[in-house]
Amino acid sequence: MAEQPTGAPPAPEPGTGPTEAISVHDVTRVYQRPRTSLRSASPPVHALRGVSFAIPQGQRFGIVGESGCGKSTLLRILAGLDRPTSGSVAIDGRDLTGLPERRLTFVRERLQLVFQDPMSSLDPRMRVGDIVAEPLVAQGHGNRRERVAELLEAVGLRADAADRYPHQFSGGQRQRISIARALAPRPKIIVADEPVSALDVSVRAQVLNLIADLVDELSLTLVFVSHDLSVVRHVCDRVAVMHAGQIVETGSTEQVYEDPRHSYTRRLIAAVPTLGRALSGVSAADLNREQRP
Ligand SMILES: Nc1ncnc2c1ncn2[C@@H]1O[C@H](COP(=O)(O)OP(=O)(O)OP(=O)(O)O)[C@@H](O)[C@H]1O
Ligand SMILES: [Mg+2]
Repeated sequence: MAEQPTGAPPAPEPGTGPTEAISVHDVTRVYQRPRTSLRSASPPVHALRGVSFAIPQGQRFGIVGESGCGKSTLLRILAGLDRPTSGSVAIDGRDLTGLPERRLTFVRERLQLVFQDPMSSLDPRMRVGDIVAEPLVAQGHGNRRERVAELLEAVGLRADAADRYPHQFSGGQRQRISIARALAPRPKIIVADEPVSALDVSVRAQVLNLIADLVDELSLTLVFVSHDLSVVRHVCDRVAVMHAGQIVETGSTEQVYEDPRHSYTRRLIAAVPTLGRALSGVSAADLNREQRP
């Protein structure tokens, strides 16, 4: 018999609670696949099936699960880049359901995304200063040069990085540039989709620490997606474990990591060898010693 999801929070009412940064209520997303044969239609893909959770302001919320379980689909829906097939999402208490595209600008102001691969998310023809300033231009911000310098320094880069191009930086430095751009419009929520998975193992801990420090300093809410529970454990207070479009377990990261209730979570912990071991061999002092480029 199929195992029942454990520890899932009660489904919140849509758009409730002013302290909730994000509230997701019974969200499903079904993709219709293009017909590949004349005889039969391809079956639809149920990327999300009845997903519900709420994230209070200031929480660092991890979402973990294997490839294809629906993590990025969920993040796109949170960012207003995709719509649920059914169910509802509220950001800062405002329900996105049924809002026309032009009314979704408030989501861009409050919530910014950081993606896995900084090389493909940064325009190689633009100078770093212009990349970071892009969201400020959209907002009609006045003194952009000063603000860009401030942002670059906040992510551990020198202000003169503004005059260079993305290919002149290492992978870790490029991810710092993405983080600076995400912070530019002063969002309250950062949504990061596998932000260290494409990076060299040696710089992952530094970038994770940078994200954790900035989230603290700026009192941000963090949604952090990874296939690796040990990475999520390093930066998040709570975690939701996703499997085949559903949340199968939710809890504090310590509890889920130390005492997983669901068999899928146990398999996930056993299967992922990477950063957990790398981090367990690194002292807190090492982690805090940021290598400034
Ligand atoms: N635009 C789309 N059209 C059809 N199917 C899609 C689309 N986007 C996602 N899917 C399918 O939905 C499921 C969930 O995909 P999603 O990208 O959300 O997974 P993920 O957990 O982010 O995976 P990964 O860890 O590989 O990034 C997959 O089966 C995927 O093939
Ligand atoms: Mg993904």
